[in-house]
Amino acid sequence: MNFNVAVIPGDGIGPEVTEQAVLVLEKIGELYNHSFNFTEVLAGGSAYDLKGTPLPQETIDICKNSDAVLLGAVGGPKWDNLPGNLRPEKGLLQIRKELGLYANIRPAVLFDPLKEACPLKPELIEGGFDICVVRELTGGMYFGEKGRKETDMGMAAYDTELYSEPEVDRIVRKAFEIARKRNNKVTNIDKMNVLESSRLWREVVNKTYEEYSDVTLNHLLVDNAAMQLIRDPKQFDVIVTTNMFGDILSDEASMLTGSIGMLPSASLGEGKFGLYEPIHGSAPDIAGQDKANPLATILSTAMMLRFSFDLEKEAKAIEDAVLKVLSEGYRTKDIYSKGTNLVGLKEMGRLVVSFCK
Ligand code: NAD
Ligand code: IPM
Ligand code: MN
Repeated sequence: MNFNVAVIPGDGIGPEVTEQAVLVLEKIGELYNHSFNFTEVLAGGSAYDLKGTPLPQETIDICKNSDAVLLGAVGGPKWDNLPGNLRPEKGLLQIRKELGLYANIRPAVLFDPLKEACPLKPELIEGGFDICVVRELTGGMYFGEKGRKETDMGMAAYDTELYSEPEVDRIVRKAFEIARKRNNKVTNIDKMNVLESSRLWREVVNKTYEEYSDVTLNHLLVDNAAMQLIRDPKQFDVIVTTNMFGDILSDEASMLTGSIGMLPSASLGEGKFGLYEPIHGSAPDIAGQDKANPLATILSTAMMLRFSFDLEKEAKAIEDAVLKVLSEGYRTKDIYSKGTNLVGLKEMGRLVVSFCK
């Protein structure tokens, strides 16, 4: 089959990790007789530098005409003094919104060979854990009214957390549907003891739950949830939460799997189309040094094959290759532990390609 994939390398380590992920997809194409047509497009800081905007219209058009999008990461210190609407990150937020990708699926799975890289005590992670964070992606404080105004106390600034009932309903449905294909368990995370937006959020969760009563639902306040993730990660299965809380909690969960360099993600809307990206950023501190872990981006391509192209066997082939690389002891610096074999980004990518079958 033929698939058109738009690739947004972005900034910092973005181009390095997407390059490896594309090589893996090409290998899968050869092995399983598919052809992936890649079109590279600009977004983020590099787009700002070349086109004066972090999200050129051409990028939106090409993404819309593709079957899926692969994205590295955007942003970096070079662009930190730009006004909010020209920042690289704004390009990413805008493309998620333009493409209607309101559901960000972030699986945090502890691979058995990476137990040593998890900072928790061994008895807390015995048997591993498999958490699926379902993060709302196109609403909340990221997109609510924001601004600055003069007050009695001087200049002030505000960002508004706003959620409508339909926005909550559709993400919660996604979480329940995912739970039905897993272990029928959802934890909703909010801050309903303080925020009105969270009180509405929780009301909708409970209302939508009436259609999913075969699923077990529990609620946690976000501060407690942040603590529980460290105390006992195995208690979680599917987590559903807001844009902001999901951003923070998924970085926390990623570290439990060994490194932020391990967590892939899928940003989905109503159809098969999706944008696939690691959860990490552009890591300016290690960019251009062949040090970054490409596995989060490589695993994101497995999600692309599964969710957008219905290629389960091929997705599994990538995940198996990643597991084999780890089982054989190869590690980038972020997941290195004594007795394992330190490799660079390119070598890690090459190993995954060579283990695909
Ligand atoms: P970051 O995720 O880029 O880096 C945090 C830390 O994790 C750094 O020490 C980095 O070296 C390390 N790290 C991240 N990815 C890694 C990988 N694949 N392999 C090994 N180590 C890795 O977060 P930050 O430093 O807060 O942000 C840097 C820039 O990235 C900012 O401009 C931020 O806005 C942007 N950002 C972009 C995205 C995205 O495009 N999706 C996500 C997060 C942050
Ligand atoms: C992520 C990033 C983005 C977010 C930023 C760069 C806009 O942190 O994808 O997790 O907060 O969604
Ligand atoms: Mn983030």
